[in-house]
Amino acid sequence: QNIQSGKVTWKSPSNIALIKYWGKKENQIPANPSISFTLDACATTTTLSFEKLNNSVTGFSFDFYFEGKEKESFKPKIISFFTRIQSYLPFLKDYHFTIETSNSFPHSSGIASSASGMSALALCLMSIEKELNPNMEEKYFTKKASFLARLGSGSACRSIEGDIVEWGFHKEISGSSDLYGIKYPFEVHPVFKNFHDTILLVDKGEKQVSSTAGHNLMHNHPFARERFKQANDNMSFLKNIFKEGNLKKFTEIVESEALTLHAMMMTSVPYFVLMKPNTLQIINKIWEFRKKSNLNVCFTLDAGANVHVLYPEEEKFDVFEFIKNELVAYCQNGHYICDRIGYGAKKF
Ligand code: PMV
Repeated sequence: QNIQSGKVTWKSPSNIALIKYWGKKENQIPANPSISFTLDACATTTTLSFEKLNNSVTGFSFDFYFEGKEKESFKPKIISFFTRIQSYLPFLKDYHFTIETSNSFPHSSGIASSASGMSALALCLMSIEKELNPNMEEKYFTKKASFLARLGSGSACRSIEGDIVEWGFHKEISGSSDLYGIKYPFEVHPVFKNFHDTILLVDKGEKQVSSTAGHNLMHNHPFARERFKQANDNMSFLKNIFKEGNLKKFTEIVESEALTLHAMMMTSVPYFVLMKPNTLQIINKIWEFRKKSNLNVCFTLDAGANVHVLYPEEEKFDVFEFIKNELVAYCQNGHYICDRIGYGAKKF
C-alpha cells in the first residue's frame, strides 16, 4: 500500500493498578505481574496526521501540540518512544507526523497521563500500520498496540482494553505475557462490574520522583525479591477473589499493594515519602468509616499523594455521601474526579 497522507484519532483511558508494577528489567520488561481496572473518565485524545516525506530523513519528523499549543518540552519523550518502536513500525521515517493531544483531566492534577497518552499514540500508529496492511487481524492489532504502548510507558500497555487488564507473565493467568497486557481471561464476579474510583486530588504538583527513576530504585533494593514474590502471590489471591466476589479480601490485597508500593519508595536508596499529611488523613477516615458502616470502600495510591477511592456500584450512594462530607475537605481546592471502570480505548 502506498498512502500519501491521512489522519486518525483515538481516545484512550488511564488505568489504576490493583497489583502494582514497580521495578523493571531491560526493554520495559516488568519485574512482576500487575493488574488494573481500566478507567473511563480520565483519558487522552490524540489525533495523528501523517504526510509522506519526499526524501527519507535521518531523525523523526514531527510536530507536537498539547491542548492546542506547540510543546517542545514533550518532544524528547516522543523521540525516545519512536526510537524504541521503529524496528516494529518501519514506516515511522517515511512520514511527517503532527501529533495533537489533550487530556480529559486538568493538566497538573497530579494524575499521570503517561498511560493514557502513550496508549493513545500507540493506537494511532497502529491504525496507520493497519492502513498499510489492511488484512491485519483485530486480535493482532490490539496485542501489538499494547506491545508498543508498553515501550512508551509500562503501565500504558494496560490501557488498550477494559475492563480488567493483566500484564506480566503469571503461571496461573493463561495467555499472560511480559510483552503486552491482556484482557483478564477469567469470569469475574458481578460485584466487580461498574466499580467506582473517585480520585481525590490531594496534591496537584509535579511528581517528586519520575516513574523511570522509581522503577530503577528497585535495582539493588533490599526488599526487591520479597516484593516481586509477594506481587505474584497476590495475583493468585486476587484471582480467587475475582471469582468469589469477596470484597473484604479485595480490600486487604488492594490496600496492602498501595502501602507496599509506598513502603518500597520509603526504603530505597535514596528514599522518598510521596504521601502528604492529607493522604494519611483520608486513609484513616476510610478505615474509620469502613469499621462503622461495614461498607466495602477501600483506597489505592499510585506513585504520588492522590488517593483513589474504590467502591462497588451497589454501595455508591452511601460511599459518595461519605466522600463528599468527610474526604473532599482534604483535597487541594476541593478537587476530585469521579471515575469508574471503563471498557478501553475508542477510535473516532
Ligand atoms: O508506567 P509507569 O512507568 O509510569 O509506572 C507506573 C507505576 C505505578 O503507577 C506506580 C503502578 C502501576 O502498576 O501502574
